Amino acid sequence: MSKVALVTGGTSGLGAAICSQLAADGYQVVANYLPDLKAQALDWQQAFSQLGYTCALAPADVSSETDCQRMAQILIEQFGRVDVLVNNAGITRDATIKKMTSEQWQAVINTNLSSLFNVCKPLIESMQQHRFGRIVNISSVNAQRGQFGQTNYSAAKAGVHGFTKALAQETARYGITVNTVSPGFINTSMVAAIPDDLRNEIINSIPVGRVGEPEDIARAVRFLVDDNASYITGTELSVNGGIFMH
Ligand code: CAA
Repeated sequence: MSKVALVTGGTSGLGAAICSQLAADGYQVVANYLPDLKAQALDWQQAFSQLGYTCALAPADVSSETDCQRMAQILIEQFGRVDVLVNNAGITRDATIKKMTSEQWQAVINTNLSSLFNVCKPLIESMQQHRFGRIVNISSVNAQRGQFGQTNYSAAKAGVHGFTKALAQETARYGITVNTVSPGFINTSMVAAIPDDLRNEIINSIPVGRVGEPEDIARAVRFLVDDNASYITGTELSVNGGIFMH
């Protein structure tokens, strides 16, 4: 039976590319989406099926613990297990700290970091029972080097890799690996929202000479979730065109 892969924020941007890659590789893919965006998710699912892939949809606000518990319960009932989990859902609320509201701070911390606790906790026992799991958490180059205007995002995304390293230690003996992928500047709506002059400046500074494509990230995820990647855990894979080397 093919493995079951849950991708949070799976119906757009990086998440959609990850879903396509995993579906092409034969996984039973489940795309989580924010319940408010149901119409967009259904459109995406239809377009996805026209490409010859199938993908289930799982509504849940990843910043809500109860939503995530409900989603996990439904998935375990429906599929019996979740083998692969990609924590991809994320938002930006950029502002300098003087202008940042506590709502902007909390929204980013809850969606980008607390979501990892919310989604992993109700799924981890099942992975342990099956003695198999692949968890990939999406962080960012802006966690590694900090970014003007992103104290909330840089803090949350740096926390992502701390979470990865701790969970990797707790789960290693059960055949579960936990790794981080840290994208650089990728061709998504999040990067399109950066003011034009700044975005052009950033693109000019990327050593490979282009922004990344969502598929560049999907291929990194594919590598880490492979059965044969069983000796890679607690690591961070940068996929950033060389914009930050450390
Ligand atoms: N370093 C130093 N100074 C900077 C700066 C920088 N990087 N960016 C702006 N400044 C300065 C400005 O020159 C300006 O100075 P003056 O007041 O002397 O003119 C001052 O800081 C205020 O700048 P803004 O006018 O831009 O302030 P603002 O409040 O209008 O906007 C901002 C602030 C929201 C942070 C805006 O600059 C912005 O959107 N920046 C982009 C942030 C960014 O890169 N986000 C990444 C999104 S992509 C992503 O997150 C995906 C990923 O994982 C990579």
